[in-house]
Amino acid sequence: MDSSEVKSDNHKLVLHRGFSFISGTHDPDEVDQINNLEIRDTDVFVITYPKSGTIWLQQILRLIETRGDIPDSANMMNSDCVPWIELVGKVKEFITAPSPRLRVTHLQYKFMPLALSQKKGKVIYVARNPKDVLVSYFYFHKLATMLETPENFSIFFEKFIRGDVFGGCWFEHIKSWYSHKDDMNILFITYEEMVQNLHLVVKKISSFLGKDLTDQQQANVVKYSTFRNMKQIPQANYQLISDQLLDHQQGTFMRKGTIGDWKNHFTVAQSEKFDQVFQKEMKDFPLSFIWDMN
Ligand code: A3P
Repeated sequence: MDSSEVKSDNHKLVLHRGFSFISGTHDPDEVDQINNLEIRDTDVFVITYPKSGTIWLQQILRLIETRGDIPDSANMMNSDCVPWIELVGKVKEFITAPSPRLRVTHLQYKFMPLALSQKKGKVIYVARNPKDVLVSYFYFHKLATMLETPENFSIFFEKFIRGDVFGGCWFEHIKSWYSHKDDMNILFITYEEMVQNLHLVVKKISSFLGKDLTDQQQANVVKYSTFRNMKQIPQANYQLISDQLLDHQQGTFMRKGTIGDWKNHFTVAQSEKFDQVFQKEMKDFPLSFIWDMN
């Protein structure tokens, strides 16, 4: 099947409990089972709004688990070892999976296992400058066959601000998780911190997970998680994902891996508009971010 056929069939967003899912990729009935999942203390959930570094955390978690060795099951893709809980079929798989169950998700807080708020399991939230998220998501829409290719950047800009994309509104996502942070075992990190000092963030993550790595093991986790090295590791960089899901002719998943690419895409007016929305939405948010909005 050619990917444009897939694109025209499958890119419909479906609203369920106020959140946009992708038809064919997610099943709302299955997603609703997540609230009641039993959680083990060894379970780890990485929470990201799309395009905030999910693929990066998949690599880091897998490497921390193997103490910095490229895993024996080297031909298994990271997206199979650290899968999305919300994808069709994944809830059932989660229930019987051996520990540790490492998962990623783009879901808002309200969909997640209630047991997380009884301090069962561990949660890592990764935030990224939403202006860079928007740009990365724009390119991802060209690549992903299950998402509609935007007509142009300004149309996508407006959609993102409205939250009319899979993942919903960026502001709601971060606020929904952050407002429950005291109920959970949660580590809150940013993509920007990771770009600036990967070593420090890997250390934070491994200590949060209770993994006592030697300096050499720690150095190996960092080494195999750099943008440059991940680009060379097919199991980590999604180049093995089928053309039916990612149209590899349109670009690569590991696109730029930088901070501030929004400056190459936003007009002054778009940046000002985004800032206004950001200030309004985030005015009571207690965290200040290290990213550069200007
Ligand atoms: P860009 O499109 O800005 O390059 P996600 O996995 O949540 O979809 O996030 C993808 C984004 O994370 C892409 O951003 C990708 O390049 C970036 N990324 C992935 N691995 C990275 C790494 N090791 N270092 C820096 N950025 C990385």
